[in-house]
Amino acid sequence: MAKAKTTVFFCKECGFESSKWLGQCPACKEWNTLVEEPVAKKTPSGRTGAVSQRTLAKPVKLEEVSIEEQDRISTGYPELDRVLGSGIVAGSLVLVGGDPGIGKSTLLLQMCRNLARDGHRVLYISGEESLKQIKMRASRIGTISGELLFLCETNLDTIEEAIRETKPEIVIIDSIQTMFREDVTSAPGSVSQVRESTNVLMQIAKGMGISVFIVGHVTKEGVVAGPRVLEHMVDTVLYFEGERNASYRILRGVKNRFGSTNEIGVFEMQENGLEEVENPSEYLLSGRPEDASGAVAACSLEGSRPILLEVQALVTQTNFGMPRRTAAGADFNRVNLLIAVLEKRCRYEMSRYDAYVNIAGGMRMNEPALDLAIIMALVSSMKDKPVNPKCMIFGEVGLAGEVRAVSQAEQRVHEAIKLGFESCILPQVSLDKMKKTDKITLYGVSNVREAIRLI
Ligand code: TYD
Ligand code: MG
Repeated sequence: MAKAKTTVFFCKECGFESSKWLGQCPACKEWNTLVEEPVAKKTPSGRTGAVSQRTLAKPVKLEEVSIEEQDRISTGYPELDRVLGSGIVAGSLVLVGGDPGIGKSTLLLQMCRNLARDGHRVLYISGEESLKQIKMRASRIGTISGELLFLCETNLDTIEEAIRETKPEIVIIDSIQTMFREDVTSAPGSVSQVRESTNVLMQIAKGMGISVFIVGHVTKEGVVAGPRVLEHMVDTVLYFEGERNASYRILRGVKNRFGSTNEIGVFEMQENGLEEVENPSEYLLSGRPEDASGAVAACSLEGSRPILLEVQALVTQTNFGMPRRTAAGADFNRVNLLIAVLEKRCRYEMSRYDAYVNIAGGMRMNEPALDLAIIMALVSSMKDKPVNPKCMIFGEVGLAGEVRAVSQAEQRVHEAIKLGFESCILPQVSLDKMKKTDKITLYGVSNVREAIRLI
């Protein structure tokens, strides 16, 4: 008789299931991501779908479904609300991912404090910290009042009971990697535990109309199941990112069933918790060096919001046959491409120079609109000629050295005016489409050489 299989293999990245080990996951094509785990027992309750309301299986017309205004709950932080798509949707499942120690627990605790203050019933479940530790953190962020309950527990069956008993409007699970269900034999943090646990939470969210926030750690070399597995199970995925040693953090929407993605919220980690940064441009441009070559103010569009920042470049004679190139905050391949454009289209001997590009402040920006600013910073550093600090530059650069139009040019120029810039170099095509303004001098350019001649 054939032996019943007791283990299966899961892909840590995408959750693909296989009966035998494979070097490459056939689903997501990642290498070496399959891990062995015990077979999950089938539960008699058969938790599979999102909502198991068998008795209510009656199709309805959309007109019969009512959407009430108060379905969205404000978190008390406009920055967070915007990323969520103007507030929390009742019955939604939100995943908050990020490196350990970036501030996920702090952000969610502060959100809970605001919600409780506004009269909502909130349950914060921590599997990572003791009540004492939570209290210590809470004392740093200020007073907590209202219906904010805490529970330190990792067993999801107990948690489910607690939720049914306390009937909160919002539940925080910190973190999904510590949670487990008794009838799944594998360890907490394994793919099957994470998936089963999320299933239970999804049932709670959809069945009882409770908004559930799940914290998930992302680690490069996934010791635990990456929250990637969860991404397609939840409604909204937010990533909290930033350099550990820089104080500000960016909350990025990656997936959102109730709003636009690509929105960002900017926070700053301070002594007493996270503080919203309402005007990130001002913040990013503060402390700019005066009259230094290789520094250019640029504009990147994050979601619906233009953000001004500083692009820095340092170009020095190379001491080796192979010039060194680095890009911090910008895409490395893009920087290489722009250097090649300078070499071929503008006849700069870039192969004799090392080039280092940096987006000041530790921001990570990948928008092509930064191309022209990167090129100008490189040229400015190479010639050791500073660019006018009151001039803002943006535009996409093509392989022929042409400067191409970018989206929302008017909005970017507007932001520059707001921050007191006197001139702006932008694609000619974008300029042609814009309304005339006398608040700022606009220079349209159609290729890189024209732009270089301007400085
Ligand atoms: P935390 O929220 O515990 O991170 P995560 O839950 O993502 O692992 O953040 C912890 C870090 O934040 C820690 O390094 C200390 C710092 N911190 C402050 O700087 N100020 C504060 O008021 C708080 C509460 C934390
Ligand atoms: Mg934490």
